[in-house]
Amino acid sequence: MQVAIVGSGYVGLVSGACFADFGHVVCCVDKDPDKIARLRQGEMPIYEPGLAELVDNNVRAGRLSFATELVEAVRRADAVFIAVGTPSRRGDGFADLSFVYQAAREIATELDGYTVVVTKSTVPVGTGDEVQRIIAKTAPRARFAVVSNPEFLREGAAIADFKRPDRVVVGTEDERAKAVLTELYRPLSLNQAPLLFTSRRTAELTKYAANAFLATKITFINEIADLCEKVGANVQEVARGMGLDNRIGSKFLHAGPGFGGSCFPKDTLALIKTAQDHDAPIRIVETVAAVNDQRKRAMARKVIHACGGNVRGKTIAVLGLTFKPNTDDMREAPSLSIIAGLQDGGAKVRAYDPEGMEAAKRLLGDDVTYASDPYDCADGADALAIVTEWDAFRALDLERVKRVMNDLVLVDLRNIYRSELVRKLGFRYVSVGQHAAVEPEPQAEILGPLGGARAVTGVA
Ligand SMILES: NC(=O)c1ccc[n+]([C@@H]2O[C@H](COP(=O)([O-])OP(=O)(O)OC[C@H]3O[C@@H](n4cnc5c(N)ncnc54)[C@H](O)[C@@H]3O)[C@@H](O)[C@H]2O)c1
Repeated sequence: MQVAIVGSGYVGLVSGACFADFGHVVCCVDKDPDKIARLRQGEMPIYEPGLAELVDNNVRAGRLSFATELVEAVRRADAVFIAVGTPSRRGDGFADLSFVYQAAREIATELDGYTVVVTKSTVPVGTGDEVQRIIAKTAPRARFAVVSNPEFLREGAAIADFKRPDRVVVGTEDERAKAVLTELYRPLSLNQAPLLFTSRRTAELTKYAANAFLATKITFINEIADLCEKVGANVQEVARGMGLDNRIGSKFLHAGPGFGGSCFPKDTLALIKTAQDHDAPIRIVETVAAVNDQRKRAMARKVIHACGGNVRGKTIAVLGLTFKPNTDDMREAPSLSIIAGLQDGGAKVRAYDPEGMEAAKRLLGDDVTYASDPYDCADGADALAIVTEWDAFRALDLERVKRVMNDLVLVDLRNIYRSELVRKLGFRYVSVGQHAAVEPEPQAEILGPLGGARAVTGVA
């Protein structure tokens, strides 16, 4: 089949490369000329394991191409995917659909013959209706169907997720469109991935419900972790005890610094707004968003506590900047709030990330010193904070770390070390939801953005 993908970011590029690998002929379009120029030179604009090879193979096989204009690709396409961004709208948190609607207008003028226009971007319920209206208005004679096919891939494991999904949700009641989507995803039937046909609105909502549920699971275990610290329990064991129950499942029960990334924060907000607009507020998700928001900065306070309550003039080494490992995506990464909190407290921050440094520099600027590796990062530091659990940080040579650090404080916000081992080496070790804070901790002081000192309690 002939496929056009409009928007070649994390989702568009991975989907395009995977569809090409299934045997379809795909053109990935992006209006960012720099991105397309890099792709044409075989350079990946994003870091995603296995993507460069997949793209290269399919370009060589003549199944994958790139363009800045969608004209040719859309005219010959059986299916056109919209995979542009849907960030939070400034001011009110609702999904900003301007990129989706712009793409719909551009696609409409080039439609030639029956075409299925598929929204892969995460969009609020009812967006498909508007996309349909826009296309019908722009090109009254066009023959088309608008389908919702939300994407569930995870950055860092995107190719495996796309090729071996738990399910593919397709929202349409148009029989011809169903046949096109069935053909597009036919290779997945070998892996027995269920193709779930629903109404368009149901598909749109399914994506938000799934993300909000996962965000809730993370937030739940994070609050349980806080309680563990107060009562002397171990959150990893609690999570294991919960997760072995098949009704609960062990995934997304890892306590940490709060969720970030390009999806959960904006999707929870957008769902909250949609629900409020329809007079059916989802209070549990409202609470999740609020709790998670506060948690990121609370992690800065946790580091400050570990340093004895004051970090003014101290150097804090931060390992891991991206919102999770195996991506270079810095969108809404907890590291951003944590670093800001540490700097507000007067700390100097040194940071290192295996793939996210370039993106991080654009957001954090020169106020952070960027290190060349974990040991360079720890050099002269008064505390080392592990913020993202890259594999490269799981087996650090702690003797070497110890030799270069100024003071031996290790704050492990991802619980990747064993406390006995680290403490035996002489570190003060602080993790999430594991430390039995039976004794009250001294009060820590953190300077707020306006410079006023605030007492902070309750961090183990
Ligand atoms: N990143 C993820 O892990 C993930 C997972 C599932 C779903 N999603 C959803 O998929 C959508 C895309 O996310 P992303 O992370 O790939 O975004 P992204 O920002 O990485 O990519 C979007 C791309 O679209 C391009 N674009 C915008 N308007 C265009 C137009 N009119 N014509 C051509 N190109 C255009 C931009 O230049 C950009 O390269 C979002 O709705 C997101 O919520 C993302």
